[in-house]
Amino acid sequence: MAHSFFATTLLAIACLSRATGASPAVFTRQANKAYEVWALDQSDSRDPANPGRQFGYGGYLHIINPANQKGSTDFSTSQIIDLSQETAALCFASTGANPVRPHMIDFSNDGRIGALAFVASGHVVHFDAATRKPVSCLRTSVGANGARQAHMASISDDNYTLVANQNGKRIERIRHDFAKGTYAWDGIVDLANCRTPSGAPCQDPTIRPDNAPICLMNPKKNSNAFITLRGGGMFVVDYKTMQIIAEYDRTVVAANGCGALEVGEDWVMIDSGGAAANGTFGYHVYRFPATGYSSRNGVNSPLPLTLQSTRDTSEKDPHSAIALKNRYVWVFDRAANTIQSFDFKQGKALGSIPLVTSLAADPTPDIADITPDEQTIFVTFRGAFPLSGDPHFSQGSTPAVGVIDIGNKDSGTLIQVLPMENIVGGVNRADPHGLKVRPLF
Ligand SMILES: *[C@@H]1O[C@H](CO)[C@@H](O)[C@H](O)[C@H]1NC(C)=O
Ligand SMILES: *[C@@H]1O[C@H](CO)[C@@H](O)[C@H](O)[C@H]1NC(C)=O
Repeated sequence: MAHSFFATTLLAIACLSRATGASPAVFTRQANKAYEVWALDQSDSRDPANPGRQFGYGGYLHIINPANQKGSTDFSTSQIIDLSQETAALCFASTGANPVRPHMIDFSNDGRIGALAFVASGHVVHFDAATRKPVSCLRTSVGANGARQAHMASISDDNYTLVANQNGKRIERIRHDFAKGTYAWDGIVDLANCRTPSGAPCQDPTIRPDNAPICLMNPKKNSNAFITLRGGGMFVVDYKTMQIIAEYDRTVVAANGCGALEVGEDWVMIDSGGAAANGTFGYHVYRFPATGYSSRNGVNSPLPLTLQSTRDTSEKDPHSAIALKNRYVWVFDRAANTIQSFDFKQGKALGSIPLVTSLAADPTPDIADITPDEQTIFVTFRGAFPLSGDPHFSQGSTPAVGVIDIGNKDSGTLIQVLPMENIVGGVNRADPHGLKVRPLF
């Protein structure tokens, strides 16, 4: 959500560059690689027998470009899967509860298995991606203050999926064997009650005041899982041993930890920010090394390079990010409706890309991913009835998936907006959030 004067200014600039067709030299294009895009509508499934009613669970999975149209830019066809049907039935049979609020999606490295986290109910569903069939549904444990959630599930490797049980303040691990079709919980790090390698309490009013885990991600080449925290600070957990191997306090990583992204072989991006209760807005982007973590390092070590750290009264909310050419990072800002580019090699900020155009007045870009050929970015645009996140930032004008054509290291154009609809009682309740590009091999 942006101030309207800001939106108007950006609209004028964006239209000008679109109309003149001015574009800087483009990156060399790689051979096209096939992919499809899985995007989640968090709104509850509607009751077909009663157009004014929703079930209170379910939601919709949209699979864009489902026919493996290699190199095609016709994204008009989506397969839509109602999660209140087969998925809810499996969850109910396995856990005695229906899944609520499909929030984030991830894939195994080979794209064959998907993991979908339902944030409100704490369910994690694994899918056979090719057949779209749910193959397992597990529910997180009850943790801090009697809460259980599944904010995000990340398939670390073929053996493990890590889950951020946000309000339960736990990292939980699923052990699986994809070939045998076995899935079971097998490890917990209790972030509300544990101790760090230095002996400090994991959660502490001054060091790390609120250890709800938000995002988690491990680089492909090692088992270092980076865990961002709602109250600030960060942990690196070795997901194979489920031990904390690095501890950061909130003087190093600011509150409202959000994105965690692998950038080439060498770096991990962490961002945090958004609003504080006192009316100021934070924007923080950090470059962590991908390696060098050990429980013997001591606190806040290795230190990240801070690429940007600001807090003032202009609305901003850095959130999702994508990496380009193993070097550039584009951070999507839900509040300012922009993308800010960073050069991780040089360790500095580059230009920013406005996203407000005639295609979307207040796009409110949330979760983004990049295609394997690095030509295109898909990003969810939030709807008018946001069901997660600070409503002040999460309410958008155009529930949809935006398609961005990548120009150069800090240029790109929003070229298509693929609408999402969940019409209940004549109102579009769709609330796009999680999104992931699934490579097809
Ligand atoms: C998964 O576990 C099996 C059995 O313990 C092991 O042989 C295999 O190397 C593991 N795979 C990965 C990616 O760690
Ligand atoms: C507002 O809160 C943020 C985060 O809690 C803090 O970093 C900042 O210093 C505060 N600003 C003011 C003006 O109190």
